[in-house]
Amino acid sequence: MTLATRYLGLPLAHPIVAAASPLTATLDGMRELEDAGAAAVVMASLYEEQIRAEDTAYALYTELGSDSQAEAGSYFPELPDYDSGVSGHLETLRRASEALDVPVIASLNGTTAAGWTGHARALEQAGAAAIELNIYSVPVDPAVSGSEVERRILEIVREVAATVRVPVAVKLVPYFSSMPHMSAELVRAGAGGLVLFNRLYAPDIDLTTLQVTRSLPLSSAAELPLSLVWIALLSRRLACSLAASRGVESHVEVVKYLLAGADVVMTASALLRYGVRHLATMREGLERWLEANGYESVDAIRGLKDATHVEHVDALLRAQYVAALTEYLPGKLVQ
Ligand SMILES: Cc1cc2nc3c(=O)[nH]c(=O)nc-3n(C[C@H](O)[C@H](O)[C@H](O)COP(=O)(O)O)c2cc1C
Repeated sequence: MTLATRYLGLPLAHPIVAAASPLTATLDGMRELEDAGAAAVVMASLYEEQIRAEDTAYALYTELGSDSQAEAGSYFPELPDYDSGVSGHLETLRRASEALDVPVIASLNGTTAAGWTGHARALEQAGAAAIELNIYSVPVDPAVSGSEVERRILEIVREVAATVRVPVAVKLVPYFSSMPHMSAELVRAGAGGLVLFNRLYAPDIDLTTLQVTRSLPLSSAAELPLSLVWIALLSRRLACSLAASRGVESHVEVVKYLLAGADVVMTASALLRYGVRHLATMREGLERWLEANGYESVDAIRGLKDATHVEHVDALLRAQYVAALTEYLPGKLVQ
């Protein structure tokens, strides 16, 4: 039995990767994840704002989390060695890259072209095995078209990919008019991998105080279908690695993403909710499932249920949607 896989050209012992989160913000956190069996870790993002306002993003995330729900207090770890600011971030990355046997992937979220390329170079020099571009900006100007938004993103990816030698992955939100076209363009621009998908900040309104409440709730397996569909639709169409992200709660979601064609799966919420040891439980569950179903390797199941070989898949998706709707016709509903 082998669980081995490759991601961005990196050989990994198995396909379960710790996604960027507060758990991967510190050297100790990343060490714990390696001890728990993570095949690779994506360090918490370096945000360009960290230069101007020390540590905005991490402070924001921790604040959001502790506001968000009762369980939040328990899922934010103590961060004794978390060193804020860019130099601290780079130092943590350098130490983690030296100390860990598994690849440490750096993550970057910039706002200016210079920020993206300059910091990508710094992350590479600090030892990152690869760089994940966390493309997270919300276009709010009605004068800026979708194609302009896409052009800017592609430019960033092109510039970063031309600047560093390590592989570059792009972590996307799911809101593009044509995900296949945008994905193909990203690969053309130099992306060696796509991470589908990031989750967005989820504000709400408190009707008692009329305050806008900040929250970043943890995901559940109910979030799986969106990423699952796009992994299945894209997996054989793109000459790049695919990482599935969102809703990986147990080995069940890991297996589903692999069947859809993912090279690796990334998990954050489940580890925050259940603790880092949960990673080992997922890996064991994957191994048990493969054994029980007579498969010798992860490669043997990868893409078995991808949708790229299905003819007229767009028509099929519509037909299935319409058929699913009929389940809710009056008379069919369970009272
Ligand atoms: C508290 C928290 C902090 C996060 N920090 C980052 C980050 O620094 N960079 C990033 O790209 N994604 C970040 N994410 C997103 C996760 O890496 C992941 O893509 C997303 O949560 C979906 O995976 P999940 O369903 O397993 O949580 C964060 C998520 C959470 C919940």
